[in-house]
Amino acid sequence: MVKKTTMGKRYCIIYMLCSLYLRIVTAERGTYIGCYVLNITEVLNTHTGESVDTCLSACEQVYYKYAIIGNESTCFCGNVPGQVKIPAEACNTRCPKNDTQICGGNNATSVYDTDVTAPGPPNSMEVYNITETTLRLSWIQPSAYTFITGYVVRANILQTYSDLSLSTLEVRVLNNTFFTELLNLQPGSLYNITIAAINYDEEGANITTTAETVIGTPSPSPPDIVVKERHGDRMVVHIPEAKNVNGPVSLYRIVVSIELYQQGFIVETLGNYSYSEEHGLPYYITAELDPDDIKNDFIIGDRHTYNGFYNAPLPLTNDIDVSLGIVSEKNHVRKIRYAESTKKIILNINEPEESSPLVVALGAAIAIGVVLLLIGIGFLIILRKRIHMARLQRGSQSMPLSLSEPCVEIENTGYIEDEEERVDYYGNLKRKLWNIPRNLIEIDISCVVGLGSYGKFTKGKVTQHGAQTPGLVQVIPDREMEKPDKKLMLQELDLLIKTSEHENIISLIGICETNTTLFVILEDTKQSLKEMLIQSRQRDLQNNKFSLVTENKLLQICVDIARGMEYLHSARIIHKRLSCRNIVMSDSGVAKVSGFGLAHIRPLHETPDYTRWTSCEMLKQTRYNPKADVWSFGCLMWEAFTLGATPYFHSLNKDVGTRILRGMRPSQPSYVGDELFQLCLQCWQVDPDERPTFTSLLQELRPFVEALGTRSLSFTHYNGFDYEPYVPQYEIVS
Ligand SMILES: *[C@@H]1O[C@H](CO)[C@@H](O)[C@H](O)[C@H]1NC(C)=O
Ligand SMILES: *[C@@H]1O[C@H](CO)[C@@H](O)[C@H](O)[C@H]1NC(C)=O
Ligand SMILES: *[C@@H]1O[C@H](CO)[C@@H](O)[C@H](O)[C@H]1NC(C)=O
Ligand SMILES: *[C@@H]1O[C@H](CO)[C@@H](O)[C@H](O)[C@H]1NC(C)=O
Ligand SMILES: *[C@@H]1O[C@H](CO)[C@@H](O)[C@H](O)[C@H]1NC(C)=O
Ligand SMILES: *[C@@H]1O[C@H](CO)[C@@H](O)[C@H](O)[C@H]1NC(C)=O
Ligand SMILES: *[C@@H]1O[C@H](CO)[C@@H](O)[C@H](O)[C@H]1NC(C)=O
Ligand SMILES: *[C@@H]1O[C@H](CO)[C@@H](O)[C@H](O)[C@H]1NC(C)=O
Ligand SMILES: *[C@@H]1O[C@H](CO)[C@@H](O)[C@H](O)[C@H]1NC(C)=O
Repeated sequence: MVKKTTMGKRYCIIYMLCSLYLRIVTAERGTYIGCYVLNITEVLNTHTGESVDTCLSACEQVYYKYAIIGNESTCFCGNVPGQVKIPAEACNTRCPKNDTQICGGNNATSVYDTDVTAPGPPNSMEVYNITETTLRLSWIQPSAYTFITGYVVRANILQTYSDLSLSTLEVRVLNNTFFTELLNLQPGSLYNITIAAINYDEEGANITTTAETVIGTPSPSPPDIVVKERHGDRMVVHIPEAKNVNGPVSLYRIVVSIELYQQGFIVETLGNYSYSEEHGLPYYITAELDPDDIKNDFIIGDRHTYNGFYNAPLPLTNDIDVSLGIVSEKNHVRKIRYAESTKKIILNINEPEESSPLVVALGAAIAIGVVLLLIGIGFLIILRKRIHMARLQRGSQSMPLSLSEPCVEIENTGYIEDEEERVDYYGNLKRKLWNIPRNLIEIDISCVVGLGSYGKFTKGKVTQHGAQTPGLVQVIPDREMEKPDKKLMLQELDLLIKTSEHENIISLIGICETNTTLFVILEDTKQSLKEMLIQSRQRDLQNNKFSLVTENKLLQICVDIARGMEYLHSARIIHKRLSCRNIVMSDSGVAKVSGFGLAHIRPLHETPDYTRWTSCEMLKQTRYNPKADVWSFGCLMWEAFTLGATPYFHSLNKDVGTRILRGMRPSQPSYVGDELFQLCLQCWQVDPDERPTFTSLLQELRPFVEALGTRSLSFTHYNGFDYEPYVPQYEIVS
């Protein structure tokens, strides 16, 4: 049934295309269309008139299809010939400049075809919400057009600090979309952005604007200062030129640290000499130099002031380390980066604290308290588990659960841990993972990328086997946390440790503890699956595809995700937010499930809306069932096959929930085969029990990947192809 109607629709579209095509080729420039009643609403008055040719050229220049001449031979341009056609005799006025042609009549206009088929330029373009790597833009439909299938947005780099040659970014959207977001831009770069309306394969006139992304944290790390001589309280150094691909190098900061304890410095407390004196810190900024001033050697300790920093005489000790910081400044944004010292380790000075007897006593008291509390909680949990089991037995008669045990609801306190683990829970946890020394973690606190359940997420780097691994750091202000929250947090950490070993689940690099803060470091990946899909929406002319990602790769990604989810469910965890946004792509192209529990990152300025991925029973807000994830997985597959489209893009956020409940499901794109789509449909069964498990989904998906050719999914470009729309504002809570 479904099949028949889509086929019918397809023929209908082909027929429409053909007839339109014929119309386009049969019209010629200057063809006389007919005589129409003069109606000058919705037309452009060019005021050049007098002959058909001048009017045709005038209208052609502004991309109008019809040159309309009437009322004393005035030239109008229109998208339609007119409303009311009248007999040819009504047009009886000869053109002033050529009396073999007709220029309308009394209350009548002669209409000619300019043969323009491409749409005119979009009316205006606005760029807003510019960040380091993204920007949003919106535009208004062109005034001159006959038919628009969509818009193409391109961004070209005009100026950048990076020396990589960056290719043109291209995004295509459907004709009902008037905004988009450009992702993965280079920080601190000037882009030339153009937008044009498209009409089948023809591209109309474009409008352009320029926009500059915000500068990023300097990269690479500043070079080492070369020490030439040391004379008493002075030191002669050479400062090598620094590079920065994310912005200008505006200033060089010279940092002195007195390394009696080899302790390095903490960026947050780094200040001028008087500040360090006042706070008893063994490090300070001694000078800030312009790029021009580093050509000659610099003398540290010469008692002058450089850009407000007093270059104090050095103490007479040998344990002095000097290092460099780069200040990058542009358009009132300032980003600073200090050299990662290779010679000396940078330690958190709070760490090697000697414990006083009082602290020990206090610690012991707290420990006893905690043990007592845990025992109490233990009893409670046992009690609850009993009650829960009893309920479960009653419930299972009516609705059998497919997973043998109740699943974990991470945000509720429903998590039930193994009995033995309760004693010294935290201690056990810590033994299971890498406790990273603070000095091996570099955290860019200025670069908050999102909010986690317990703290902000920032970008960071971890030194591991001599190399630096980028990481996402959740900064959890441990000390301020209430006990119940802390327990919950530790449980989530435990779940993450349990699951993150799986290759299709985001990896936990390790944790780091200081006396105030817990840092949980997750692997950082370049992009999410959603970003990758949107970026792949490009024409691959060589292979005649409309996607840069191959069909097999996408199917493999679905298999990866299903494997990760199978594992999560086997660990009794329900994800609840499964969508392409929450899948990360590792550098080697493996998809990993993220976005659950401690790995849930909420973007700073918007809240994702997962309604479009939510199963019908969850829309009615019943208890979470693992099969709700299967539904979401169906939506995720659809989202992946359509290269990042928004499910139900034709429904507003306020309507989508009720429509899903009434049976609306994402429709089958013509390039997704029936068997594959059938798999999605199975995930969207109303009865959760009828949906497959991830284990059976995996079995069904694998043959699609292994099958050669593109029978089930084909990204081969065809005439009239359009991407299913991606509507960013439908995917966030407004
Ligand atoms: C003139 O055209 C506009 C729209 O193009 C239409 O709404 C209006 O009814 C027309 N007026 C007459 C008198 O035909
Ligand atoms: C026709 O042209 C005259 C003057 O050129 C102008 O006053 C009048 O408004 C025009 N009428 C229409 C319907 O455009
Ligand atoms: C006048 O119009 C006729 C018919 O369109 C055309 O053939 C002729 O070249 C035109 N003459 C001038 C002087 O433009
Ligand atoms: C021109 O035609 C319109 C629509 O038929 C009519 O309303 C209007 O009165 C006419 N004007 C003149 C001057 O004939
Ligand atoms: C946009 O596309 C749809 C379907 O492709 C079409 O019905 C509609 O007329 C188009 N809109 C414009 C303004 O061309
Ligand atoms: C931006 O691109 C457009 C179209 O490609 C071009 O005409 C324009 O000169 C460019 N702008 C700048 C500032 O280079
Ligand atoms: C914009 O339009 C101009 C003129 O039609 C064309 O040369 C240029 O390539 C277009 N720019 C882009 C980026 O499409
Ligand atoms: C040193 O820094 C502190 C705070 O950062 C500031 O208040 C003070 O004015 C600075 N001292 C000098 C001499 O610049
Ligand atoms: C920028 O984004 C924020 C959050 O998404 C939004 O509230 C704000 O209105 C946006 N700014 C503009 C100019 O649209």
